[in-house]
Amino acid sequence: MLVSATEMLNKAKAGHYAVGQFNINNLEWTKAILLTAQELNSPVILGVSEGAGKYMGGYKTVVGMVNGLLEEQKITVPVALHLDHGSYDHCYKCLEAGFSSIMFDGSHYPIDENVAKTTELVKAAHDKGVSIEAEVGAIGGEEDGVIGKGECADPNECKSIADLGVDFLAAGIGNIHGKYPENWEGLSFETLDAIQQLTGDLPLVLHGGTGIPADMIKKAITLGVAKINVNTECQLSFTAATRKYFEENKDQQGKGYDPRKVLAPGFEAIKATVKEKMELFGSVGKA
Ligand code: 13P
Repeated sequence: MLVSATEMLNKAKAGHYAVGQFNINNLEWTKAILLTAQELNSPVILGVSEGAGKYMGGYKTVVGMVNGLLEEQKITVPVALHLDHGSYDHCYKCLEAGFSSIMFDGSHYPIDENVAKTTELVKAAHDKGVSIEAEVGAIGGEEDGVIGKGECADPNECKSIADLGVDFLAAGIGNIHGKYPENWEGLSFETLDAIQQLTGDLPLVLHGGTGIPADMIKKAITLGVAKINVNTECQLSFTAATRKYFEENKDQQGKGYDPRKVLAPGFEAIKATVKEKMELFGSVGKA
C-alpha cells in the first residue's frame, strides 16, 4: 500500500540519512526502482513529473500500475507516489487520482500568492492523508519544460512557507536539474545551514541530485537534507546500456528484437544506479 512520505522523511531527518526520490517514466523504470528498494530494504519515493504523468497515460494509469506492482511484486518497504513540481491544478488531479504525496511548485509566484495557494493545498492534501512538499527559490536548469534560474532561497521565505504546515521543503541552494555545467560553483552550504536554523526539524529536499559529488551529498545530509531527487542519472544509465545493446548488434541475434530483451540492459542499469544512490544516501536497511 502506498504511504505518505511524511513518516519516512521525519525518520530520515532524525536518523541523518536521506530517502531518494527517483522519477519514473514507464513500467520498466517503476519496477526497477521498486525491486531495488525491496532488495535493499530501503524506503523510496517514486517521482512523477506532469510530463511523465501525461506520457504514461494519465495519473490514474500511474496509480494503477504502481499499486499493481506493490501487490504482485510483494513490495513491503514504504513507498510514496509523489507528484514532482506540480502546478496548482495538477496537485488536485493527483489528490483525486490516489497519489500519496504531492509537490506544489509555487516558486514562480510572488511570495504572497505562493503562501495563499500553498495554504489551501496543505489542507486539501492533509484531509486525504497525503504529504505535501513546497518549493522556495527556483531550482535551476530545465526539467520537463519547467525552467529555473538556479537561485539560493531566502531563508526567511523558507521559514514562512514551512510555517504553513508543509511536510518537507525544497529550497534552492545553487542546485540545478540535469547535468551540472563545468563552471558550477557547487552547493551553498551557508544557505542550507541558514535555512535549517530557521526551519528546525522540517525535512529539507535537494533537487537536481544527478551529478552532485558524493562529499557534497553527505554534507547536505548533515545539514538537514532528508530527501534527494534523482532523475537524469537514471535516464543516462538506461540510455547508455540500451545504446550498447544496439552497438553490439544484440538486436540481430536470435530473438534479440523482443522488446523485453531490448529493455533488459536498461532495466538492470537503472537498478544499479538506484542501488548506488541508496547506498550513498544511507537509506539501505532503513525500511
Ligand atoms: P536531476 O534530473 O538533475 O537528477 O533532478 C531531479 C529532480 O530534481 C526532480 O525533481
